[in-house]
Amino acid sequence: MKLVLGVSGSISAYKAVDILRLFQKNGHDVSLVMTRAATRFIAPLTFETFVPGRVFCEMFAPGQDPLLHINLARNNDLLLVAPASADIIGKMAGGIADDLLSTVFCAFYQRVVVAPAMNSHMLDNPAVADNLGRLRSRGVEVIEAETGPLANLETGRGRLPDADAIYRHCLNLARV
Ligand SMILES: Cc1cc2nc3c(=O)[nH]c(=O)nc-3n(C[C@H](O)[C@H](O)[C@H](O)COP(=O)(O)O)c2cc1C
Repeated sequence: MKLVLGVSGSISAYKAVDILRLFQKNGHDVSLVMTRAATRFIAPLTFETFVPGRVFCEMFAPGQDPLLHINLARNNDLLLVAPASADIIGKMAGGIADDLLSTVFCAFYQRVVVAPAMNSHMLDNPAVADNLGRLRSRGVEVIEAETGPLANLETGRGRLPDADAIYRHCLNLARV
């Protein structure tokens, strides 16, 4: 499978390394798109080490393919956004395309999977819940966040499932 792994600005962004490695280990072809906020949590260099030349963070980067957003959409079978922040979920639900990841999503016409990860109060926020519902109703696959210890050490719903669960979910979807 050829996929774009979109990483957004969540404290769990570091877990995307395990997700990337698992897809790679199983022979899948992965390109990375990081939001600016994601780069505050994990350095692009970490991903660059595993997929040299295939880590993209900016819409308007000098020397970059000007039609990168269209070509990433055209050349991949799956867009997996993991972790998906409340913000990127809102942009995806609202059709906002103001950075590379949200623009790739708008151009993407194959399967899209999002794995939300955030504080439980954010996840329960009616606007966030509504946005996830809108995405589901349009055929976007939403992987449920898990319950467990959160960043503030409270226990609640909002944890990113582990790489294995996300991988299996995507693989099952690809078989349908
Ligand atoms: C320490 C810290 C942890 C954060 N963790 C999350 C998170 O897990 N989920 C989330 O939706 N937002 C989280 N945020 C807020 C996002 O980073 C913020 O909304 C950002 O604008 C998201 O941008 P993006 O969607 O372009 O990546 C966190 C912010 C900080 C400072």
